[in-house]
Amino acid sequence: MKYTITAFVENTPGVLNRMSDMFTRRKINIESLTVSETEQPEISRFTVLVNESKDKIEKVVKQLYKIIEVVRVYENTDEHLIAKEIALIKVYTKTPDERRTVEDIATIFDAHIAHVGNDYLILEKSGHENEIRSLFLMLKPHGVQEFVQSGRIAVQKEKNTDDPKITNDIVQKIKDTSRIVDGIEVSAIKRLQLMAAQDENIISLAQGIPSFDTPKNIREAAKVAIDKGLCDRYTAGYGIEPLRQALRDKVKRDNHIEAQASQIIVTHGAIEAMIITFIGILNPRDEIIFISPDYASHITQAVIAHYGARPIYVPLEEDKDWKLDPSKLEGAVNQHTKAILICNPSNPVGKVFTKKELESLVEIAKRYNLYIISDETYEYFTFDGSRHISVASLPGAAEHCISIFSLSKTYSMTGWRIGYSVTTQAVANQLFKVHDSLVTCPTAVSQYAALEAIEGPQNAVDEFRSIYIRRRQIVIDALKKTNKLKLVTPQGGYFAFIKVENDIDDYELAIDLVKHAAVAVVPGSAFGLGGEHHIRVSFGCEDENLIEGMKRLIAYVNKTL
Ligand SMILES: Cc1ncc(COP(=O)(O)O)c(C=O)c1O
Repeated sequence: MKYTITAFVENTPGVLNRMSDMFTRRKINIESLTVSETEQPEISRFTVLVNESKDKIEKVVKQLYKIIEVVRVYENTDEHLIAKEIALIKVYTKTPDERRTVEDIATIFDAHIAHVGNDYLILEKSGHENEIRSLFLMLKPHGVQEFVQSGRIAVQKEKNTDDPKITNDIVQKIKDTSRIVDGIEVSAIKRLQLMAAQDENIISLAQGIPSFDTPKNIREAAKVAIDKGLCDRYTAGYGIEPLRQALRDKVKRDNHIEAQASQIIVTHGAIEAMIITFIGILNPRDEIIFISPDYASHITQAVIAHYGARPIYVPLEEDKDWKLDPSKLEGAVNQHTKAILICNPSNPVGKVFTKKELESLVEIAKRYNLYIISDETYEYFTFDGSRHISVASLPGAAEHCISIFSLSKTYSMTGWRIGYSVTTQAVANQLFKVHDSLVTCPTAVSQYAALEAIEGPQNAVDEFRSIYIRRRQIVIDALKKTNKLKLVTPQGGYFAFIKVENDIDDYELAIDLVKHAAVAVVPGSAFGLGGEHHIRVSFGCEDENLIEGMKRLIAYVNKTL
């Protein structure tokens, strides 16, 4: 007799092994075993089709209860079940016409284009096995190169039992709070910073806070604005007009971006500009490609705005000085791709993207009609002759770009919370709706301070840059005292993204460093794919802290790794 066992299981390591091990030991005749996702990211659904006596099934299920959370056993007669399968089909498309035909077939069959290659498409189809078979037959003349099909995933048809009940404690856990937010952790940067703050002997090289005070002229401008009574009420939502005009002139002069003031929204830091962008342009199931390793908050923000979808990473090539490979970027594009996110200069790796790399990025954005979200928070901190280029300044790029800037690092104004976005009028109108709902307007006093920062003397920015060059050298010199750590010299920003030899678990190392060496750094895994086995050191802090912090770090790795 055929039975379908459906089990909802928490995603703990080794669960699939334990399950298949038990079936093998008991010599159960399995026809198929399929693992599929459920709406809850932490729970998977196992569908096992077995051909056994009722007796034996009962024993197996009892056993299963001991190792995993089995919810229900269905007797498998097809009229009681909705049975589905999933297939992946790789089809060659030699000409654009053929590609269009294959895309049309995919649409007719409601198949998802999972991947787009230069001369092939990979289609994903879920449905009844007959539907999959028909799709396969339609595609066959076009050159099916690979075809894989899952075992059946079956759910019972009867009323209220389509989705077998999940046990109470799981329901409780799920219903308490947002599952998406449950899945997000407070950034490793803040956690390490918090750990460091608990003990004054710990030196923090974790969070990227510049050690400088905000320049005096900026503080004074804020005081004057308060005394004049300019800061007591909400301002225009998109920012005070003189500031938007000053920013329009600044992006024209320094970034070579032509925009009207109406295309600029002054935000609560670059952080707000990013979240309104994600919320403003993404739909459920859309994907963003992150050129990684990438600033940790980009990733969590996209996940929040994106309703829990997975970020797609295209890692830079560390052994080629963090080079961007355009073919990898293009290979990651599929029909769900909405945007590519670039952090230039990059936090955490300190890369400054070349004109050629940016041109290839724009080419891809044009070809697939994608947005480019460009975070340029560290635009003024580039070294060794590297030149920061705003991607939106390249020919034909502006209509794809949402460029995000910040005053936080440039003028050492992290506490004032002012950033801004520059994009097309249509997208700016869209983002403004989100901005208005979230914050109403940026803080008034900070906007007057920002106006002075943009229009006043700029010598502080040059001074900060030369101090960062000196501090970067402190890190480079310290690293000469060990062969356990390797660094591609950062060309921008103020972070050193250091590779730890021996494939060490970077989270464990970061925790050990705080506990046993009294120095806080950020584990590289927090920055997405390509970040593992690295630690990030900020050289935004005072020289003496940096020297001592690096000394502790090097002593610890030399002793323990
Ligand atoms: C790449 C990047 N973008 C944005 C931010 C945050 O900027 P803001 O203070 O303007 O919100 C940071 C802060 O560390 C950053 O590193």
